[in-house]
Amino acid sequence: AATRHQEWEISYQFKSPDCVRKLAVTINGETPGPTIRATQGDTVVVRVKNSLLTENVAIHWHGIRQRGTPWADGTEGVTQCPILPGDTFTYAFVVDRPGTYMYHAHYGMQRSAGLNGLIVVAAAPGGPDAEPFRYDGEHDVLLNDWWHKSTYEQAAGLASAPLVWVGEPQSLLINGRGRFVNCSAAGACDAAHPECATPVFAVVPGRTYRFRIASVTSLSALNFEIEGHEMTVVEADGHYVKPFVVKNLNIYSGETYSVLIKADQDPNRNYWLASNVVSREPGTPAGTAVLSYYGGRSSPRRSPPTAPPAGPAWNDTAYRFRQSVATVAHPAHVEPPPPRADRTILLLNTQNKIDAHIKWALNGVSFTLPHTPYLVAMKRPGLLDTFDQRPPPETYAHRGYDVYAVPPNPNATTSDGLYRLRFGSVVDVVLQNANMLAPNKSETHPWHLHGHDFWVLGYGIGRFDPAVHPASYNLRDPILKNTVAVHPYGWTALRFRADNPGVWAFHCHIESHFFMGMGIAFEEGVDRVAPLPPQIMGCGKTRGGH
Ligand code: C2O
Ligand code: CU
Repeated sequence: AATRHQEWEISYQFKSPDCVRKLAVTINGETPGPTIRATQGDTVVVRVKNSLLTENVAIHWHGIRQRGTPWADGTEGVTQCPILPGDTFTYAFVVDRPGTYMYHAHYGMQRSAGLNGLIVVAAAPGGPDAEPFRYDGEHDVLLNDWWHKSTYEQAAGLASAPLVWVGEPQSLLINGRGRFVNCSAAGACDAAHPECATPVFAVVPGRTYRFRIASVTSLSALNFEIEGHEMTVVEADGHYVKPFVVKNLNIYSGETYSVLIKADQDPNRNYWLASNVVSREPGTPAGTAVLSYYGGRSSPRRSPPTAPPAGPAWNDTAYRFRQSVATVAHPAHVEPPPPRADRTILLLNTQNKIDAHIKWALNGVSFTLPHTPYLVAMKRPGLLDTFDQRPPPETYAHRGYDVYAVPPNPNATTSDGLYRLRFGSVVDVVLQNANMLAPNKSETHPWHLHGHDFWVLGYGIGRFDPAVHPASYNLRDPILKNTVAVHPYGWTALRFRADNPGVWAFHCHIESHFFMGMGIAFEEGVDRVAPLPPQIMGCGKTRGGH
């Protein structure tokens, strides 16, 4: 196995990803950052220099489990102190599974400022994880949403009373490029800027391509399509899927997919790649790119003769629900889940009010990050007073809770307490969605677990009944994932083995939701964690003599 070295300098730069100039957080001057390419079993070493003038940073390797290196997970407040301006921090970890992953900032709402990119891990040749499918070429597609307001202003608005909501994005980006439609109205808009030139994906007629698709959106659930070309879904979050064919692919923030397409259409015209917002009423035009055939009569720069596809109806939940249920393990790559769980945590997702602030809460508790990272606080003597020692609730109190009604009592508390899991135990988590503070509103939440893949055992719409629904779980061929959607008014059940020593965040991948408290943390086997590298310390009570 090889070691892949990266030297990164993080800095603010003026960028025009959608033709409108904005300060963005960049890696070596670029957003998105470089794609990390490695082979299963390789060690990735990334030396990060924080050259932001006044902001901290931390970088999370999303989908990489960090077995044996929990301090390299890059989650500020959970696994490390942030990297201070001027400081350098080295992440080193093994990529032990093939597949499509991503990285992004995990400090405040910095991910949406542009600090994100792809990780592509090839299967070890001839190994047991070799792909059960064939293709001739490969393209990478990184989907994002983009605002003109600074991330700092967005975060300050979310923390204000009354709340200043971030609103719908101005643009949708594909590989860091988009086009703000009201360019003529915007001041600093340069539609001729090369940074916002439409991306082109070139294909050879008759060949089959693997498109790796990842979403790092801050808010938007997306629907992705390649005009005129059906897609066969073959990978999700680094696991092989029992192939199924779609015209449109729903993809939530934090998810990755691979699809195969055959270049078998008329080569003499171009085709749109398009991303459209679903699950929230859209206020953003489609993100677009162009598919062009080599040897065809159309210049790759020419717009397709059609209008960009508008995607399915944004509120067609049943359609998206069906894709979730269709995503199961490839028959030759089934890893059966343990037949039963040792513990079940039922998490009711609600929107709440604390004083005049709008928050998200789980079982009435809105999450706050501790100032001293859990991993350090739990490994070093005398630091346990740095976070709330009371365990958060295993379920919600109100048994007859009506998930279709506005919360009868919008109050919640805040806490930085965490769930301690018995090492090696099997844990079920059922995420229960509900109505928001406004009537007739419930949106999709993509939940992401650090440090593990989980089996997706089942989905439902309505209130989860622990006496009934577990009987319908898929224990035969459930897919393993690290991010999963909880549909409007619905529930999602997942199972994992708490066998990775460390402290791991589990949260909604919508940047503003996590910022407003939509997350929890798990601890397991922290006594088995090797001595911590001192570089993760230096904040809170880890400063100085500790
Ligand atoms: Cu990609 Cu904790 O997130
Ligand atoms: Cu959410």
